[in-house]
Amino acid sequence: MDDNSINNLKEALKFSPDNIPLRQHLADVLLKANRLDEAEEEYLHLLKLTSDNKTKVGLAHVFYQKEAYSKCIVILEEVIEGGFEDFDALILYARALMREQSIASAIDIYQRALELNPAFRDEELDQELRQANVPAEEAPADSIESRFVQKPSVNFNDVGGMENVKKEIELKIIKPLAHPELYKAYGKKIGGGILLYGPPGCGKTFIAKATAGQVNARFISVGLNDILDMWIGNSEKNLHQIFEVARQNAPCVLFFDEIDALGASRSDMKQSSGRHLINQFLQELDGIDNSNDGVLVLGATNTPWHLDAAFRRPGRFDRIIFVPPPDATARESIFQLKLKGKPTEAVDYKSLAKKLESYSGADIEAVIDIAIEEKLESSFTDGIPKPIKTADLVNASKKHKASTQEWFATAKNFALFANDAGLYDDILSYLKIKK
Ligand SMILES: Nc1ncnc2c1ncn2[C@@H]1O[C@H](COP(=O)(O)OP(=O)(O)O)[C@@H](O)[C@H]1O
Ligand SMILES: [Mg+2]
Repeated sequence: MDDNSINNLKEALKFSPDNIPLRQHLADVLLKANRLDEAEEEYLHLLKLTSDNKTKVGLAHVFYQKEAYSKCIVILEEVIEGGFEDFDALILYARALMREQSIASAIDIYQRALELNPAFRDEELDQELRQANVPAEEAPADSIESRFVQKPSVNFNDVGGMENVKKEIELKIIKPLAHPELYKAYGKKIGGGILLYGPPGCGKTFIAKATAGQVNARFISVGLNDILDMWIGNSEKNLHQIFEVARQNAPCVLFFDEIDALGASRSDMKQSSGRHLINQFLQELDGIDNSNDGVLVLGATNTPWHLDAAFRRPGRFDRIIFVPPPDATARESIFQLKLKGKPTEAVDYKSLAKKLESYSGADIEAVIDIAIEEKLESSFTDGIPKPIKTADLVNASKKHKASTQEWFATAKNFALFANDAGLYDDILSYLKIKK
């Protein structure tokens, strides 16, 4: 709008000074024309006549343009905390907070704005918040490194039972790493990941970590929230960076826990951002742009049926392994492993293990924990540690029930009615159901 029209508006207002919409219009036009002093004057005048949120946000805009960020923040804080959920106001608020170095609040508000308009990206805000979120001299890759890269001290000896799983991992992951030339000689492609699935607490996460320890490699464990939360927006970039850190740290085990959250059936993903993330993940897995040599990919899920089928293509998670609850022998060795170095006396591991049908490794850990707590209590009186006996563990097991049955109730239905290509046959044979 040119100066002439602005003058006309001003003239008109002289005749009807209390016309609120007209004055609001003039103020907005002045703001757009960057005539900030005049705009401020008009907004202030308006606020004597009305307490409209739009007017307040207009004034906040003026203050922002004048670099009076704290004044801008005071107004927007009142407006927004008062319940005015306006996208523009939130974006402006986030920007002002960022200018005042209130980074955490700025991220918070920016996320609220994105909830109102998920497709929106403010490149500048995105960029600056992401940079501001990282200590100045630290490159993002370094912070990922220190946050995610571990050097596990457990190996296969610490894992009770799971002989099948160990064998698969050996064949698919460990051997190729040790003898790449043999695989090459037969033209056998190395790569692809293993997906572990099964009831909770049965050692999926644990064996992934032990795999890294077994080959003396680094371990990078990632949950979906790590990717989504690291900074706002740009989850795809975060995912790429994690893969890059893994490549730089090869040989390493890159483990995606609860991967179903990431690979949730694409049709379920209402937001396009979810689809982008999946596609990015598949691209990274395929290692098209960057080689994944020496990066051993493992994934775990309790709900494999929620995983997009694209994840199971060759070269991706092309081995799907069922991790069942430990059998009696495995339970026995888990008890022994977990009680090692603790005061015990004549524990009958065999009979104990036999009694605890359906108990997971995590359940066994809980049982031991309860037994120890009770022993501790009775040791306080004389200060002498009393040894844990079979009866203590049996008693403790009455206070902690097995937790795996519930999972099978659901899994059974998928194994019976959605068993593409015999994917879940292992569940059926575990339950002794004939096809
Ligand atoms: N086979 C096992 N051998 C030794 N410990 C186990 C075993 N299975 C489970 N545990 C113990 O139970 C805990 C929980 O197991 P976890 O690997 O987190 O289960 P999941 O990932 O399958 O839900 C582990 O930290 C580990 O201490
Ligand atoms: Mg787990």
